[in-house]
Amino acid sequence: SCTKHEVCDEAFTLGKLSCEGKTKLVYDINSTTPGRCLIVSKDTITAGNGAKKNIMEGKAEMSTSTNASAMQILNDVGIKTSFIKVVNKNRTFAWKCHMIPIEWVIRRVATGSFIRRNVGVKEGYRFAPPKLETFFKDDENDDPQWGREVLEEAKLKCGDIEITSHLIDMMEKMSVTIFEVMEKAWQTKDVSLIDMKIEFGIRCDTNEVILADVIDNDSWRIWPSGDKRLMKDKQVYRNLKTITNNDMKNLKENYSWVSEQLGEVAESFRDQTKSTTVAIFMGSPKDMAHCNSIKASCSDLGVNCTLHVSSNGLGPVISGNTVLPVINCPPPSPQWCTADIWSSLRLPSGLGCATLLDPQAAALCSAQILAQRNPAVWARLRVKQMKNFLDLKQSNAELK
Ligand SMILES: Nc1ncnc2c1ncn2[C@@H]1O[C@H](COP(=O)(O)OP(=O)(O)OP(=O)(O)O)[C@@H](O)[C@H]1O
Ligand SMILES: [Mg+2]
Repeated sequence: SCTKHEVCDEAFTLGKLSCEGKTKLVYDINSTTPGRCLIVSKDTITAGNGAKKNIMEGKAEMSTSTNASAMQILNDVGIKTSFIKVVNKNRTFAWKCHMIPIEWVIRRVATGSFIRRNVGVKEGYRFAPPKLETFFKDDENDDPQWGREVLEEAKLKCGDIEITSHLIDMMEKMSVTIFEVMEKAWQTKDVSLIDMKIEFGIRCDTNEVILADVIDNDSWRIWPSGDKRLMKDKQVYRNLKTITNNDMKNLKENYSWVSEQLGEVAESFRDQTKSTTVAIFMGSPKDMAHCNSIKASCSDLGVNCTLHVSSNGLGPVISGNTVLPVINCPPPSPQWCTADIWSSLRLPSGLGCATLLDPQAAALCSAQILAQRNPAVWARLRVKQMKNFLDLKQSNAELK
């Protein structure tokens, strides 16, 4: 039975079992593309560090497809993840990583262990920006919370890479951005992402820090309509004292609902970028290069453009005849410093179009306008801002 993520087109042979956890097995693989591993999901559901454990038939498949949808959303908007593709219903190709043994927990709403650890903060308190906490993955000691100082001083080594304060800064920024993107994605289904756990790894072949492990229904709390009573995630299982057949059936329905809904979100994220349009009007075809550069910057943000040749004095005239936002972006000319941009800036009364001189700025501004209604564009913009931060940080680190 083929799922929509299924790709059955590649030959490979299974190598050695590289590790086995409570919910997954990771195998080395021999194939023409090096650097990858095979993640095999299990039907196991666990809580309390394995203290409670059950088999939930179909969980492996639902986890695989939920993870594929989450990772597709993130990959599409420019987050680097370990996800490559689904091989069959419970198997996924991923970039093999040296895993960083930290759980990065990002919270929008205080609940669960946070309110137990922070007496005085009421359940429902909203963190803005999202609150980040880190826990060292150490089952024997119940995954102790590590403050930033502890994490820095631990000087963890993953492969040949030491986890420096520079890398921690990067992962902190990525964690919050990843949360914000998934939060935005779930909003399209009127589902509140309350909190989420992720892990990072160092890609074995490139040494890049990427989002790794999986994101599935065990990774977060999600409350439809922001209503805790409607929760659909693993918390439902954690809350069960004894587990009846009916409980198991209900749980399975939740997992299946989540997998289905997120699949739809992932698809609609792709469709949204196809349907969003910026119309670029130029005064004459000699402005083509300038307009193409606006178009290229729009494409980077998942915004399609149509190009049109029309007459001069365009911006103000269009603006006066539509309620759509209009941005003038006059092509550079030698007269700029003296007079030329005044025809865009000095508008007749009753008009309200904006003027931006740089093509990329015009593209960004239009994407920001579209992002108010378009979550996929919103996510790309947010990731672009994250990348600006990471690039600057990287340049600074290299300079040092
Ligand atoms: N892309 C990857 N490359 C290498 N290892 C990976 C990758 N993705 C996940 N793993 C590792 O696979 C192992 C099995 O995952 P699983 O989640 O089942 O473990 P677990 O029992 O939850 O234990 P843990 O507490 O370490 O997550 C984990 O150690 C995880 O870090
Ligand atoms: Mg795990």
